Parts: sequence; C-alpha cells; structure tokens
Amino acid sequence: MATVAVDPPLGHVPVMLDEMLTGLAVHAGGAYVDGTFGAGGYSRAILAAGAGRVIGLDRDPAALDLGRALAAADARFTMTAGRFGDLSQHLATLAIDQIDGLVLDLGLSSRQLDDPARGFSFAADGPLDMRMDRAGPSAADLVNQADEQTLASIIHRYGEERAARRIARAIVARRGQGAITRTRELAELVAQAVGRHGERIDPATRTFQALRIHVNDELGELERALAATDAVLRPGGRLVVIAFHSLEDRIVKQFLAARAAQQPRPSRHLPELPAARGPIVLRPLQRRPLRPSAAEVLANPRARSARLRAAERLPEPGEAR
Ligand SMILES: C[S@@+](CC[C@H](N)C(=O)[O-])C[C@H]1O[C@@H](n2cnc3c(N)ncnc32)[C@H](O)[C@@H]1O
Repeated sequence: MATVAVDPPLGHVPVMLDEMLTGLAVHAGGAYVDGTFGAGGYSRAILAAGAGRVIGLDRDPAALDLGRALAAADARFTMTAGRFGDLSQHLATLAIDQIDGLVLDLGLSSRQLDDPARGFSFAADGPLDMRMDRAGPSAADLVNQADEQTLASIIHRYGEERAARRIARAIVARRGQGAITRTRELAELVAQAVGRHGERIDPATRTFQALRIHVNDELGELERALAATDAVLRPGGRLVVIAFHSLEDRIVKQFLAARAAQQPRPSRHLPELPAARGPIVLRPLQRRPLRPSAAEVLANPRARSARLRAAERLPEPGEAR
C-alpha cells in the first residue's frame, strides 16, 4: 500500500502509518475516532484516505492547538479535548451514536518526550511532572508523598522492575534530605540504587515508565476505551491499537480474545432482548501483532517496540453492516 501524503509531522513521526490505515480500512464517508491525536499524523492520513468525519481526541493541551488548526483547514475534522477512556461521553456530546473505526496510538508523542519541561525524559533535566493533561498529582507528588511500599509496588507492577524495593527504599531515604523535584536527580538516584552497568537500556527506564503509567492511569484509560467499543463500534467497524510495552499489549490481546470468543446473539428484533448492548463480537485481523519493518525502525528508532493489533466488529444475526 502506498504511503498517504501527509503534512509535515510537526515533531512526531507517525508509527506504522500504512499498517494502521490497512487495519482501519477507511471507507468514503465513514466516521472515525483518532483517540490519540498527538501531532495529528494519523488524523491527516485518515482524512486523506477519504473519511467523511474524523474526531481527534487528546488529553494534552499542547495537542489541542494543532487539532484546532486542522479543524479550521478541514471541515470533516473535529478536535475534542479529553481522555479516550471517556470515549462514549465524548461521542454523546457530539451526538454521534456509532463510529466506523477507533485508533489508539498509545504512549507519548515525540513532542512530549523531547520537551524537558514536561518531565517525561530521564535523558534531559526537567521538573518531575509527567502529567499528560497537566492536571492532578504529578510524578514529583507521587515520589515525595507515597509510602515506600506503595512506591515499590507501582515500580514493580508498571515498570516490571526487579529492583523495585531497592529503588523505593533509596527514594524514601533521599527525600529525607529534601524533596526530589528534577528528572535527572531521580534518574541518577535510580541508577545508583539499581547498580547495573552495561545494560542495553538506561537503568531509569523502567522506573520512569512505571511513574508515567501511574500518574496518567494509562492502563485504566485503555481498559475503559476498549470497553466503550461495545456501545459505539458499528458492525463491520474496525479497532486498531498500537502498543509500546507488554502491559498495554497484554490488555489489548486479552480484550480481543474475550470479544472473539463471544457468541453472536440472537436477532435483536426478538422482543425479549434488553435494549442495552452487551459485549460485541470482534474478529482479530492477525494472530500475532504486527511489528514495524526494519526500514521503519532504522528511519524512526522510536517505532522499535510498537505492536499493532486490529480487529473487525462482526454483525449480529439480523444486524445490517
Ligand atoms: C503516540 S502519540 C500519538 C501520535 C499520533 N498518532 C500522531 O500521528 O501524531 C500519543 C498521544 O496520545 C495522547 N494520549 C495518551 N493517553 C491519552 C488518553 N487517555 N486520552 C487522550 N489522549 C491521550 C498523548 O497526549 C499523545 O499526544
């Protein structure tokens, strides 16, 4: 499939763009939600593929201006501020009942990661923030206020870090000398606590991932968005999710397996059926997640851990596509 021409990526190179478009199977006039607008690379491509309507969602205020500029340039596009976990509410506000596709490109955009002021990166010094929507408790609040056991369990659970207890102990010991407020300060403290050398990844990688996931409730958001597809995805509609670590990918994999195992319900025209819709039936489009090509990883190393899963909603008996 040819790459669709998109405007300059504005600091973020869209990952697995062609594979995303194939999974979404955009058709003329269809309505699609780009739940992770970012710099808008996916939304632009979905519009270029002929969508009738695209709703862009992002919880980061920095993404909103880009989205509003796109909305001003293309009447088929609407930008909405908020979380994809509230998908049903956003669609209800826009008076949209059903959509033809939802895409979630999880994690951070390069614009967020590369801005030290956002506090996501351990490579550059900045305030220990990590809040995508700049609201609620920050990573500094968590690191300075949570008890040792809570910190250890967050770092273990969301970072899959074996040295979680040692790191939590070191954090609590250090904050006795004053609050930990900077990313480099935390990264160096973690490196000392872990004491690993010669590893492929920075010793702070897992701890930063864990704090970010907790601060933004990233896994809860994903679970809520997937569950929302039961109510909003049209028969024949597509779900495409690009995950960047195993915790996210496991949730998507398990959701798709559960929905693939659903039995189609009897005709909804039978009078005894309740009005509310239950779980939908999804047909996964691949057995294993798609990975980026070697050429893409070479051109954009941030794509290296991407895993794309896509599925199609099957119609129920008596239900039109
Ligand atoms: C990897 S970027 C998306 C990049 C986009 N596909 C592009 O081509 O520019 C992820 C974006 O999703 C946003 N995001 C992450 N979690 C979110 C959530 N729960 N609700 C809404 N937006 C979210 C982030 O703020 C970020 O801008």
